Amino acid sequence: MCGIVGYVGENQAAPILLDGLYKLEYRGYDSAGIAVYGEDGIKVVKARGRLKVLDEMTHGGEMLPGTMGIGHTRWATHGAPNDTNAHPHFNKDESIVVVHNGIIENYLKLKKKLESKGYEFCSDTDTEVVAHLLDYYYDGNPLTAISKIMHRVEGSYALGILFKDHPGEVYAVRKDSPLIVGRAKGGNLIASDVPAVLKYTRSVYFIDNEEIAKLTRDTITFYNIDEEPLQKTPTEIAWDITAAEKGGYEYFMLKEIYEQPKAIADTLNPRIKDGRIVIEELKMSDDEMRQIRKIFIVACGSAYHTGVTSKYVFEGLARIPVEVDLASEFRYRSPILDEQTLVIIISQSGETADSLAALRLAKSQGVRTLGIVNVVGSSIAREADNVIYTWAGPEIAVATTKAYSTQLIAEYLLALKFAQVRGTVTDEEMEGYIRELKMIPDQVELTLGNKEKIQKFANRYLAAKDIFFIGRGIDYAISMEGSLKLKEISYIHSDAYAAGELKHGTISLIEEGTLVTAVLTQEELYKKTMSNMVEVRSRGAFVMAVTNTGNQEVEKTADFVIYIPQTNKYFTNSLAIIPLQLFGYYVALGRGCDVDKPRNLAKSVTVE
Ligand code: AGP
Repeated sequence: MCGIVGYVGENQAAPILLDGLYKLEYRGYDSAGIAVYGEDGIKVVKARGRLKVLDEMTHGGEMLPGTMGIGHTRWATHGAPNDTNAHPHFNKDESIVVVHNGIIENYLKLKKKLESKGYEFCSDTDTEVVAHLLDYYYDGNPLTAISKIMHRVEGSYALGILFKDHPGEVYAVRKDSPLIVGRAKGGNLIASDVPAVLKYTRSVYFIDNEEIAKLTRDTITFYNIDEEPLQKTPTEIAWDITAAEKGGYEYFMLKEIYEQPKAIADTLNPRIKDGRIVIEELKMSDDEMRQIRKIFIVACGSAYHTGVTSKYVFEGLARIPVEVDLASEFRYRSPILDEQTLVIIISQSGETADSLAALRLAKSQGVRTLGIVNVVGSSIAREADNVIYTWAGPEIAVATTKAYSTQLIAEYLLALKFAQVRGTVTDEEMEGYIRELKMIPDQVELTLGNKEKIQKFANRYLAAKDIFFIGRGIDYAISMEGSLKLKEISYIHSDAYAAGELKHGTISLIEEGTLVTAVLTQEELYKKTMSNMVEVRSRGAFVMAVTNTGNQEVEKTADFVIYIPQTNKYFTNSLAIIPLQLFGYYVALGRGCDVDKPRNLAKSVTVE
């Protein structure tokens, strides 16, 4: 996944491009580059490494005078991260320049064809093919050349393009990769995501698939693939600019951990009216909801972990059978879907390639689809039949926290809505569930109060080789997320195990001093999990427990205990995950890791 920006206006472009790219560095940061159209034509500077390298090389952009340009920050897919493969990429005579986010799946075929026509390539990227293909089709009309490549290129792309003989014009086009247009005073912008333009405007157009945008200093016009003009309406972005900044925290991740009470409340409150669950954006009638006989929850990573929890919640409250699938598995296993199936795709970014492909597979079989998505206007949000937005606001840290927590809330609400419609819970029970849901933001706030205790404990495990998480039922789902949070940012090996599975092999991994974190929030399973804690402890493990207030019994079998407030057994993930997020954060911090941008990862995986 990469970040692209573009600007045309009355101000110097390079500083604006760099500023926008800094806001998109979470999308990829192994190399960066900018192209600026100045008096001597189009100049390109690009470099391997973080954006700071490019910033310093261009003296903050001063070296590249000009009021129009495009920029790129890269997460390599084709071609190693180096200066040559960094974007932007030129055509042969440097009259066309391109930045790209996505994957051109038929680039090798196109490359061979172009080489047979005398084109020479200097990089290993798929993007360079686009620059030469534009050159091949270009006859002086940018729109026609763009339309032609859209018919030839397969795969995903968000492109920013400049044409030397069209000064004052920036072109953009997208298919399956995100791209927005910002309408600002004194100039217009393109970007992969909203934070890159917020400093200049809140008025944003979301480009739809296979739409072209043409920007000048004073105009923005849209066209379809056949070069026919389109009318589009801008969206006013409600986020304030600080929401996309660090707000005084050392890392975005800690800021976002502490934003969870508000994110949960923002996602929850608009959907509870007069003691009932009201999900206005859910365009399903009560009858249609009653006809659903099976639900598939499909997602990746942490979003998948919320799905594992939601299986228990849906089956427990609404008595609907639920299957939870990793999107990368679902799309290749020929799932059995029919008109009484609902496929729910959960995704913070709404751009995860595997999740988007799973959505399209379900839709191709005529199955009703629902997205639970955080990024407004993202591909999954627009292509699903229904979308429930999580109102977590922009989540910048690669390791998700507030989006994860709001996904849980959206899933609880949906399960309760189904239960309400299908009459599987009484009015009195519903009242209780809603009362407990409304307490969650304050209870999360309370649980965050364990920060110092957890930070001190975490500092004892900075050199750990392995850390395991165990639990049963929903506690197993919580363990999965706790383990992922730790390993993806601290690089310590970790795994989550169903506690009952230890005796079937994994207990052999326990050595003297191995840290095992046990999650015990399901009262009917306390005793079983505590016996597993005894098993690992008797083999030398050090046991940390996360459990409900009142379960003091656990202190007999745990060496370190974090208590969370009492809540309904279906909602405990929202509270138990807080100490595990903090634990992962402080271990990574103590190990000197880049908590917001862990190695090898990107915020949204828009490639397979
Ligand atoms: C979680 O901390 C990771 N960043 C990752 O597992 C993430 O949840 C996964 O890639 C899914 O992303 P999405 O929610 O944007 O689809």
